Amino acid sequence: DAQKATYRDQIKALLKEKNAVLVAHYYTDPEIQALAEETDGCVADSLEMARFGRDADAQTLIVAGVRFMGETAKILSPEKTVLMPTLEATCSLDLGCPADKFSEFCDQHPDHIVVVYANTSAAVKARADWVVTSSIALEIVEHLDSQGKKILWGPDRHLGAYIEKQTGAQMLMWQGACVVHDEFKARALKALKAQHPEAAILVHPESPANVVEMADAVGSTSQLIQAAQSLPNQYLIVATDRGIFYKMQQAAPGKTFVEAPTGGNGATCRSCAHCPWMAMNGLEAIHESLTDNTGHEVFVDEATRLKALIPLDRMLDFAA
Ligand code: 13P
Ligand code: SF4
Repeated sequence: DAQKATYRDQIKALLKEKNAVLVAHYYTDPEIQALAEETDGCVADSLEMARFGRDADAQTLIVAGVRFMGETAKILSPEKTVLMPTLEATCSLDLGCPADKFSEFCDQHPDHIVVVYANTSAAVKARADWVVTSSIALEIVEHLDSQGKKILWGPDRHLGAYIEKQTGAQMLMWQGACVVHDEFKARALKALKAQHPEAAILVHPESPANVVEMADAVGSTSQLIQAAQSLPNQYLIVATDRGIFYKMQQAAPGKTFVEAPTGGNGATCRSCAHCPWMAMNGLEAIHESLTDNTGHEVFVDEATRLKALIPLDRMLDFAA
């Protein structure tokens, strides 16, 4: 509508004026992803967002995603101004893994190397030896396991279980889960697959093990988009946030994409197949962050930043 068009035009002008760039995750609403594309920003998974933000020439990064993505950008680029449409966009994995409790857990197992998922606070990263995202988790754990390291993993238990199964590593695990992916239900998925035997099933590894088991492709958001393109199937059932359909349709035009079934009934489920925190990244909030920094700027205390930078750099070097 007219108001949105005005916001879009003003945001484009403000990005130029402020030497700012929009870094968006695939789960943000299609209009946000389109805006990032049109303004030479990026739409990406969490590993690529981190890299893009670090390497960008822009002085200001507008991170449209959730809090840990903004913090990661700031840890990697302290000289840049990092803004978020809203600082309230958190993540259930981050919320479910408070730094003090997680640190106690680590203290109880001093002989274990600490590997944390990127979906955590800066303070949790500061306690870690390695940070991983879903696109590089298997390779990094395989590498550590082959060196005979004992691994403590946190916080996503489903991704942890998937990594254990794939690599044969045994990890001590923090028991966190994503409110969106935890909702996917294997029984209903089997029924849907029975109706569409020609379908391929694409699953993000934050989903429960019995859903992951049914997958034709398991991977990070970027990896799932690649699979949507490369698999021959025309009909694709997708167990991840529905925001990803925007890019999947671009990558594989003409294919049919269907959400994997969730446990909620749509009316009561506040999170089914769409992350409530990713949904906070609207045009108005982006516009506000560009017109007045107050309450939008991400800060990470310097001592924490320097500690968190070590495992993050390790991941980025490993992935390079
Ligand atoms: P990706 O790293 O695969 O983009 O995942 C981030 C995320 O929050 C998934 O829920
Ligand atoms: Fe966190 Fe899940 Fe939202 Fe991803 S989809 S940001 S893991 S709550």
